[in-house]
Amino acid sequence: MVDWGRLELEQIGIVASPSRETDADCILQEGKEKEVTSETLVLIDNRNGNKVLAVCRGGVGLNDNLKINYYNPGVAYARSGKSASVAKEFFSFKLVVIGDVTDGEIRQNKTIIAPASPVYKFKEGTNPMELLGSAKHTLGYYAMGSPQWKVPILAEYIPHHIGVFGVTGSGKSFLCRYELIPLLQRAGYDILVFDWKGSDYAPYYPDSVINMGDIELDEASVYEYLLERLDRFGSGKIAETLQRYLEEVILGGAWRGSDPHETISRLKDAMMKTITEENLEKSGSLSKWGEIYARRAEKYLSRLRPEDVRPVMGKLSALEIIKRLREKKVLVIDLSYGSKEQKLSIFLSITRRLKELMEEKNRLDIAVLVDEAPQYCPWNPRGIEEETTKHIIGLAALGRSYGLSLILVSQGIAGEIGINAAVRRNLNTLFIGKIHPLDAMEAEKFFATSWIGADSLLRLPEGQFYMVGKMNPSPIPLLITFQIEEGEKIRHGKR
Ligand SMILES: Nc1ncnc2c1ncn2[C@@H]1O[C@H](COP(=O)(O)OP(=O)(O)OP(=O)(O)O)[C@@H](O)[C@H]1O
Ligand SMILES: [Mg+2]
Repeated sequence: MVDWGRLELEQIGIVASPSRETDADCILQEGKEKEVTSETLVLIDNRNGNKVLAVCRGGVGLNDNLKINYYNPGVAYARSGKSASVAKEFFSFKLVVIGDVTDGEIRQNKTIIAPASPVYKFKEGTNPMELLGSAKHTLGYYAMGSPQWKVPILAEYIPHHIGVFGVTGSGKSFLCRYELIPLLQRAGYDILVFDWKGSDYAPYYPDSVINMGDIELDEASVYEYLLERLDRFGSGKIAETLQRYLEEVILGGAWRGSDPHETISRLKDAMMKTITEENLEKSGSLSKWGEIYARRAEKYLSRLRPEDVRPVMGKLSALEIIKRLREKKVLVIDLSYGSKEQKLSIFLSITRRLKELMEEKNRLDIAVLVDEAPQYCPWNPRGIEEETTKHIIGLAALGRSYGLSLILVSQGIAGEIGINAAVRRNLNTLFIGKIHPLDAMEAEKFFATSWIGADSLLRLPEGQFYMVGKMNPSPIPLLITFQIEEGEKIRHGKR
């Protein structure tokens, strides 16, 4: 139960008419417009009998003397450079209802908010977050409050997956490093980070970094990777046959050498052997088709350089990586060098093993953090991206049951700059920071009835994010932020 007498509140105004059960307008007392801002949390002592927690949004200033829709004395004053009367001026805010908090837990408010009900703001020493229920975990703090106002989080929804969105420099990687990773750890998850650029996470976990070159690729990933390196042997029927032969060779395993040169020559030998075996004529010589295959294979294989095969020569298996993750609790895969295919092959190799473990009905309690998510699952995936996109959707479905949480970080939400729509549907909690203008329409969908418009999303300062969705105990988005160390307050782009 909430001890209402203990809460330190300060009246800021009263409810105006008309009012509803989901929102109301608040007329501010004189002078309070300087203290109350959008996103200020308020308590409505509803004259109809309950207590309602709400947030101020959509403020308005009104002065009848200064209406601009017709010529009037106020307009005349303004035109002549004189100041107009402010006697009839007043300010109001839209109060967006979070819920009925009368009984110390948050419930949907079903009681009409009575006009003239008093509206209070919380003094700094009183933490309104306590009214959001007794969640065990918290993340950051309420952006328009004090750092003590830690925002409660429903940790049971972590495996329903998380999206972090915001333009470059909005603070996504910082949010992950300062808040999400520690939260996931407190909630019992080990965190595997795929650091696309190698600069956002790897330097901060120096003892827990694995370089991409050391990682062993599984056969499917080796095949996909080499296929891309070999330009899929061109196109048409010949290419398709050669692709099939390459798959056989990779599955056969005889292609691995002790160094890149040896690997290339073994790969060539194994391909030629397969071509010969499959295309022998009764006379014992190679068929006409066999010769065509051999020539095409030779042409493409001769393009392979040692640096192309180095990535497939790593020794660290996915299982060993998972074991190391269990020891370190946070493990960063540094993907900073190498081609896109290499990076995605590594992601596939490791997470396929995680998928197998889930298929064998193991509970994982692992969070996979993927920064630069559009590289893995863009809106319109091609080549190896198709495989990673499908795979991520599969991981998301199994993860909900077996404790694998995906945290996908992206600059854009939808369309060309965003992530694949089918993947996005699996992200049930979103942190939305300053958005890209191209995302204005998409982002507004998440804020439909909560009075947050694209205009404010386009202007959010770095480090502020709206939390939307299942992990949020409030049914409407809350604005959160977090403190970073002094030394890290470098302006983005000037590092
Ligand atoms: N909570 C915060 N308070 C103050 N400044 C912050 C906060 N979070 C981030 N910043 C500032 O924002 C800058 C950019 O943050 P960050 O690198 O996380 O952006 P990003 O969204 O990951 O960008 P990119 O998409 O380019 O990777 C940081 O260098 C830091 O100075
Ligand atoms: Mg980043």
